Amino acid sequence: MVKSKNLTWHEGQVSRTSREELLGQKGVTIWFTGLSGSGKSTIAVAAEAALREEGRLTYILDGDNVRQGLNSNLGFSPEDRTENIRRIGEVAKLFTDAGVIVLTAFISPYRADRDQVREIMAGGDFLEVHVSADVETCEKRDVKGLYAKARAGEIPEFTGISAPYEEPEKPEVVLDSAAQSVEESVDQLLGFLRDKGYLSA
Ligand code: ADX
Repeated sequence: MVKSKNLTWHEGQVSRTSREELLGQKGVTIWFTGLSGSGKSTIAVAAEAALREEGRLTYILDGDNVRQGLNSNLGFSPEDRTENIRRIGEVAKLFTDAGVIVLTAFISPYRADRDQVREIMAGGDFLEVHVSADVETCEKRDVKGLYAKARAGEIPEFTGISAPYEEPEKPEVVLDSAAQSVEESVDQLLGFLRDKGYLSA
């Protein structure tokens, strides 16, 4: 819902296509979703490095980072998570329009929120990547010690423990991060991007 009235979209003189020509690549949003500790950020960071090697301009939007800035006024209630994802969806859409390969790493636990982001983006601009690892695996890793805290009742509404995670039904890519290495996941993802022509420009 747009609150303001009397708004008119102002077109620039430089098109997305022109920006993409300048950069020699196509803009796209690679939307990682999965439990805390599933490997979203780790895979995004490694994929970004691999894409840089190929001369691609990328940008990572990461939950832990964005929540310290743009989204510092949001917590983890269902409403706040929805707003978190809505804002990031809009930011990712802008970056994609700029011609950048965007990698987002947010739990984004609600299917409807992710679908809404897909909805606002042009067809083919939004690639949902399920970083799939079961709660047991993530809890065993417990990289940030958050699962232990959640079990101890110190973190309310913790995804996978006391708050839901809704798995994607038709993601473009599933990375089995419980079974495969970060390198294998990156190879799989870049292989997909290459096969589908996202890296052909
Ligand atoms: S989302 O659900 O709104 O998409 P987001 O990805 O931005 O979440 O932030 C998740 C990160 O915040 C986790 O990786 C973890 O470090 C931290 N965090 C703190 N509290 C919670 C919580 N209650 N549930 C999940 N993650 C939390």
